[in-house]
Amino acid sequence: MERIIINGGRRLRGEVRISGAKNAALPILTSSILTEGWNTFSNVPNLRDIHTIKTLLLDLGAEIEDGKDLRINASGLNNHEALYALVKTMRASVLVLGPLLAKLGKARVSLPGGCAIGARPINLHLSGLAALGANIELRNGYVEAKARHLKGAPVFFDVPTVTGTENLMMAASLAEGITTLNNAAREPEVVELANVLKKMGANIKGEGTEIITIEGTKVLKPIIHSIMPDRIETGTFMVAAGITAGDIRVRNCNLNHLDSVISKLRETGLKITEESDGLRVVGNKLIRTVDIKTMPYPGFPTDMQAQMMALMAVASGTSVILETVFENRFMHVSEIRRMGADIRIDGRSAIVKGVRKLSGAPVMATDLRASASLILAGLAAKGRTEISRVYHIDRGYDGIVEKLSNLGADIQRVND
Ligand code: UD1
Repeated sequence: MERIIINGGRRLRGEVRISGAKNAALPILTSSILTEGWNTFSNVPNLRDIHTIKTLLLDLGAEIEDGKDLRINASGLNNHEALYALVKTMRASVLVLGPLLAKLGKARVSLPGGCAIGARPINLHLSGLAALGANIELRNGYVEAKARHLKGAPVFFDVPTVTGTENLMMAASLAEGITTLNNAAREPEVVELANVLKKMGANIKGEGTEIITIEGTKVLKPIIHSIMPDRIETGTFMVAAGITAGDIRVRNCNLNHLDSVISKLRETGLKITEESDGLRVVGNKLIRTVDIKTMPYPGFPTDMQAQMMALMAVASGTSVILETVFENRFMHVSEIRRMGADIRIDGRSAIVKGVRKLSGAPVMATDLRASASLILAGLAAKGRTEISRVYHIDRGYDGIVEKLSNLGADIQRVND
């Protein structure tokens, strides 16, 4: 069983280079389905979720060359099925639905089902594709979608959905006529996908706003593209500086994507300064409390909620963390409590009373961002923390143990 072992209490110092963004890479890699010929992607992070999407693309009949860059050619696509075995390990596999339907006129994709952080339905993906003329049936746990020709149409999302907006943008790029996506997600990863589709030859306007307009085209061409830096990894290292009263230079990051996070972290007392290739974060022994409410972008990201909770667990006072995006995203609370944190859950709120010191303990990772919060708590805690089920962290953090170790953390991965 693999575990991460941390002996806490070290101040982190030095430089860390942020990897490519998982949530940008996943839709971008599936968008290659829409093109004919070899696409070349660089700065692709080395993550379990990326391996899953590559396996899925290979399974669909795409060719892949994996070197320094990742090259994908989906010209020979001959399978339209995404099987349960893959989709159950990663919900984002549903991102092949829109492209397959647009390219092959049919798709059979396993329903993802629930996950640790909530029910997470895909009804908005399906009603959007139905608005574009797809016939959709749910049979034997699979979505079966068919469409001779997708036709542009207005789509209204009840709530802004990131992967839903991405699926619809990809499908609409090869549909006939104009699609408007209303109440669309505004996340930077959605904008990045729009930029990629535009490079491929799509006509898209309004990305980054609530209304995205796509005028379909007949053919999309392959591209060369470098994946943008991961804003959640960046935020996680900023919290690492804060929770250890460290001094970290974070390289290869985009500050514009982190306004809400930077503003909250500054309120806690962190000194954050912009530098030529990134930023410098200097932590303070005294961590002030802030209240957090997670929201769709540009609000505070739900993917940073667990990490902020670890920071608030050692802040001087009481804070309230309200999770509005996912209904069950407090799985990390019971584990951080085992390290001495004083946290009470009341519905969608967590009331966090800061304690002077956490103490190391054996804990279990429950989902991707929860595992990041346990690592952060372990860095600040007195004594030894052992984190099991580390495969969760491998889904979304490229080389986190090596990166933290280079910053001076006493952290290692063991397999016994
Ligand atoms: C994406 C991110 C994930 C992040 C989340 C919210 C990827 C691969 N994953 O997930 O890291 O935590 O955005 O920022 O980019 N909803 C519905 N019906 C739908 C779709 C969504 O009710 O058809 C609801 C969800 O249950 C949730 C909310 O909408 O309450 C937002 O979810 P969504 O933006 O779709 O999350 P994902 O795209 O799955």
